[in-house]
This record gives sequence, C-alpha cells and structure tokens, in this order.
Amino acid sequence: KTVTLYGWVQRRRDHGGVIFVDLRDRTGLVQVVFNPQTAPEAHALADQLRNEYVMAIEGVVHARPEGQENPNLPTGAIEVFARALTILNPSKPTPFPIGDEAVDEVLRLTYRYLDLRSPQLQQAIIKRHEVTRAVREYLSNQGFLEIETPVLCKSTPEGARDYVVPSRVHPGEFFALPQSPQIFKQILMVAGFDRYFQIARCFRDEDLRADRQPEFTQIDIETSFLSQEEIMNLNEEMIAQLLERFAGAEIVRPVHRLTYADAMDRYGSDKPDTRFGMELINVSDALSSSGFKVFAEAIAGGGQVKALCVPKGAEMSRAQIDALGEFAKKFGAKGLAWVKVGEPAEASDNSKTVSYDIGDTPVTASFASTVMKFISAQEAADIGAKTGARPGDLLLFAADRKSVVAEVLGRLRLKLGHELGMINPKAYNLVWVVDFPMFEWNEDEKRWDSLHHPFTSPLDEDIDLLQTSPGEARAKAYDLVLNGTELGGGSVRIFQRDVQNKVFQLLGLTDEEIQDKFGFMLEAFEYGAPPHGGIAFGLDRTVALITGADTIRDVIAFPKTASGGDPLTGAPAPITPEQ
Ligand code: AMO
Ligand code: AMP
Repeated sequence: KTVTLYGWVQRRRDHGGVIFVDLRDRTGLVQVVFNPQTAPEAHALADQLRNEYVMAIEGVVHARPEGQENPNLPTGAIEVFARALTILNPSKPTPFPIGDEAVDEVLRLTYRYLDLRSPQLQQAIIKRHEVTRAVREYLSNQGFLEIETPVLCKSTPEGARDYVVPSRVHPGEFFALPQSPQIFKQILMVAGFDRYFQIARCFRDEDLRADRQPEFTQIDIETSFLSQEEIMNLNEEMIAQLLERFAGAEIVRPVHRLTYADAMDRYGSDKPDTRFGMELINVSDALSSSGFKVFAEAIAGGGQVKALCVPKGAEMSRAQIDALGEFAKKFGAKGLAWVKVGEPAEASDNSKTVSYDIGDTPVTASFASTVMKFISAQEAADIGAKTGARPGDLLLFAADRKSVVAEVLGRLRLKLGHELGMINPKAYNLVWVVDFPMFEWNEDEKRWDSLHHPFTSPLDEDIDLLQTSPGEARAKAYDLVLNGTELGGGSVRIFQRDVQNKVFQLLGLTDEEIQDKFGFMLEAFEYGAPPHGGIAFGLDRTVALITGADTIRDVIAFPKTASGGDPLTGAPAPITPEQ
C-alpha cells in the first residue's frame, strides 16, 4: 500500500548507502528506508535529516525481510520504502535527550514541548483524554448535564488561599478564582438542574506537593434528591469502571465503607492505604498500671499506647530501629519504644519469656528490649495476645495523645509497608471513608474549622450536638480513597437556612460576615432549595494513579514547578504600569 506519513525523526542510521529513519508521531514509531538505487533524490535529502526534524514521506509499505522483524514494536513487522521526502522544518539539537527522566525538571518544563514528545508523556496525555471522555460518557448516560460555572467569581471557602484578579471597571475590587465550583453547583441545584457535572479547573494558592498543583482539574458533581448512599453508589461505579477499563483493576462492589473513627483507629489516617494490614493496635488496656512511666502517664493523661507489629522486624539492627525512632520524632513522637519478639530464651534483665494465645494457637516467645525491665510478664503476654506477635516480629510503641499516636504510627506503617515490600504494586484498593467530624478545633484562632467545607450537613442524629458539643458532631461527608490517596471528597449539603446559619456562627462568622459572604446563597435556600449533595474527584490524581505516574505533573500538559511558576512562559511575571 502506498502511504503518506508525517512526523519527527527519532533516529537516523546510515547503513552503507541505505538510510534508515525511525519516524515518530503520537501513535508510535515506524521504520522508513531510503534506498539510493530506487529513490536517489529522497535518499540524498535524507542524508540531511537529524533528530527531531519534522518531515513528510510518501512510500510503500513492505514486510520486513525475514529475521529482521522487531517484535517489541507494534510496527515491527513492516517498513516503509520512501519514494519522496519533504523536510518540513529542521530542528536545533535538543537541550536534553527526549524522554530522559533524569534531566532537571525546570529544564524539562522550560522546553515542555520537547518533554511532551516523549512516549511516556504522550501516553499519559492521551490516557487523560480517554479518562475524561469516559467520565463524560458515564455521567451523560446517567442523565447528568455538563454546565460551566464562572472562573471570575467571589471567594469560595475550600480552606486554601485565593488567587485574586483586579477589576478594571471597579477599581480596588477583586475577583477570586474559584477553589472549586462549590457554590455555583449548589445554586444550580436550586435552579432545578438536578444532575450536574463539570470538568472544572480549580485554583488554590497553597504549597505544592507531588499530588498538588495550584491549578488542577476536578470531576465536579452535584445531584438533588439522592441519599448519601445513592450518591456514593453512583460515584463508586464510575471510578470502578475507570479503574477496570484503564488500569486493568478488579474492583469489588459495593466498595468497602470505613468510618473516619475506624480509619483513624486502625490506620492512623483518614486516607488509609488498605493494600496491606499491619494495623495500629491499642494496647492501653494492658498497660494502664504499667511500671513503665512513659506508658502509664500517657494513659493517665487521657492519651493512649498503640503498637505496630512488624512482621519479621526483629531482624532489624539497632541502627535501623533508631532511624525509625528519628522518623517518628519528625511527626511529633517523644520516643518510640520497641520490643523484639524472639524464640523463648533464658530470661535476663532485658528480656522475659511469656506465653499467650493468638486465636486458638498457644505461643511462647521472648520479649527483648531495654524497656522490658519496666514491663511485667503479664503485660507482655497481654500485648502479645492483642498484637498477635510471633517470634521474629518487632513491636513498635507510641504513647501520647490520640492524634499524635495516629500520626506517628500511621506514618511508620506506610513507610514500613513500602520498605518491607508489603504492598502489591498491582493492587487497586478503593475504600470510602465516611462519618467525618463536622469540625476540627483551630487552636490559633480559638474557633472551629470545617473539616470538609461549611455547606456539609451534620448526620441527622448529631444535629443537636451543634449546640452542645460541636467537636463530636459527625458529617454526611465521604471521601473515596485509592491506595492511600484521596481521589475525591464530597458531602450531603445543608439546605435549610437555619442549620446553615448555625454552622457559619460556629465557624466564627459574624452576622454581617455571613450576610456579606453568603447572603445570596442563604437567600437562594429560601426559594425551594431541594435536598442535594455531591462530590469532586481530582482528575489529575485519578489519571496519575491509573497511569502509575509518580506525580500529577506527569499527567498535566503544562504543570507548575514546585515553586509555583511556569518556566516555559516565565509566569508569574511583572506587568507594565499601564496593565
Ligand atoms: P476537595 O477540596 O476535597 O473538595 O477537593 C476534591 C478533590 O480535588 C483534588 N484536589 C487537588 N488535586 C490537585 N491539586 C490540588 N491542589 C488539589 N486540591 C484538591 C483531590 C480532592 O479529593 N467542593 C468540594 C467537593 C464537594 O464537596 O463536592 C471540594 O473541592 O483529589
Ligand atoms: P526514656 O525513658 O525516655 O529513655 O525512654 C525509654 C524508651 O521509651 C526509649 O526507647 C524511648 O524511645 C521510648 N519512649 C519515650 N517516650 C515515648 C513515647 N511517648 N512513646 C513511645 N515510646 C517512648
């Protein structure tokens, strides 16, 4: 077949007269052959080709000679004999080899158009398109309407700093870029568009991390008249289908639901990585009257002692365990007590041999540690039974306030899970975290902050707690977590004006501030606002997890650097006084 192909020179090889060119476009590579006998003109021109020249050829597709097929290339069975060549544009030598991930990121982002020519990034951007398209299809089939909301708007309360834009016609006044379309999507519910979605760009002036960008994209969803369960079912089905189709995952439905309280208790995190066990185990009961002051005092002060049982951890050296202690201190631990569990041995000052049952199995083990002189054999046996520790394991203990224990052991659990190879890299574990607290206490400003956002409804049975003990009130809020990353979060909303008012007051807003910031919304609630709720997923995070990218920068065509700039265009930049 005669074909015309356009693309870039990936590589040119001169094999004693015959020139081979690997021609590349976003669909892949194909080998083009320039033969001096059959196409002398094209061959002569091909001599000038260099890497990244953009060219067009006309030629004939042939099977490659036997023995010369390349099974690693989808086009490896064929090659194209060029008849004519046009060099459309030459290229300077590139500042870095295309596709080399070791190259400094600022340099790569300065020449993002070259970086984006790499097959990895091309595939990621193509995958992103396919995911977005599948989302549009799924939601459209479910009766959702895609509706755009303004980018120039009033501040939206998602808890980050706003980017602001000065108004020319209202000197001294500013628009804020939306941190999310939250307010508008709720207003759309009042307007009667009971199933809305948007692939929405959001802007948050916050510190960057691997999974955060100052501008990012949400799959933003809102519905009227559905219960929390119905909203969750509809959304988990969408994400499950995406993971099955694009990542080859197998997702069990319904997706497991975990309360916030259980997530914090068992994993020390509200976004637990459930691909492996090694859960946090509360051993306070065994230690409340312990001779080890560190433990007893933490419990007496209202705190707790929890343990991680690290399988085969007893092999670790003192230096390795000390390093874990240093790591723990970075997250607020005062120390990290440990016990090596071994085969029964002769008792010494630093070890005790104890017997206990794990389920129905009797175990006898030696508990060895510098802290064992303070811990009784009975306490050790209780700890052994609770943690299920077997000879060869290492027990790590944190004693402190509940929140510190969760943070420290939660972080250690993840670190050890990765380092000890406890995580199956092919696993996709989805879990819903539900029943979040409504508020968290802001010690600096001596007031409550919303954990999700101020439009989130309390659980029906917890409404009265808003008056009596707001810190205990739970919310109709839900996060979908994949392998320890929060993919999305949402809530059933408050739709009655008085409840909304109460929440604003708890957040420390005065009546004037409520009126000034949200008066329009409260008023809208008075014109037949339907019960409603929704969610937003991070599109960038979703695609990154699907493609296995280490950072969301690898699935965004033009991301910002870690310092929030764009080296390609030089933004942000000063503007002229006239501007
Ligand atoms: P939330 O603030 O939890 O909820 O955001 C929803 C999802 O957006 C993604 N995300 C980000 N992705 C990249 N960079 C960032 N800086 C960033 N910030 C958030 C996360 C997160 O789970 N309006 C509510 C949703 C709702 O209640 O319907 C909201 O924005 O994946
Ligand atoms: P100390 O008596 O302070 O020398 O501590 C004895 C052991 O207990 C050391 O291994 C410390 O790391 C550990 N330790 C100290 N404070 C805590 C704590 N709050 N939680 C867990 N272990 C601790």
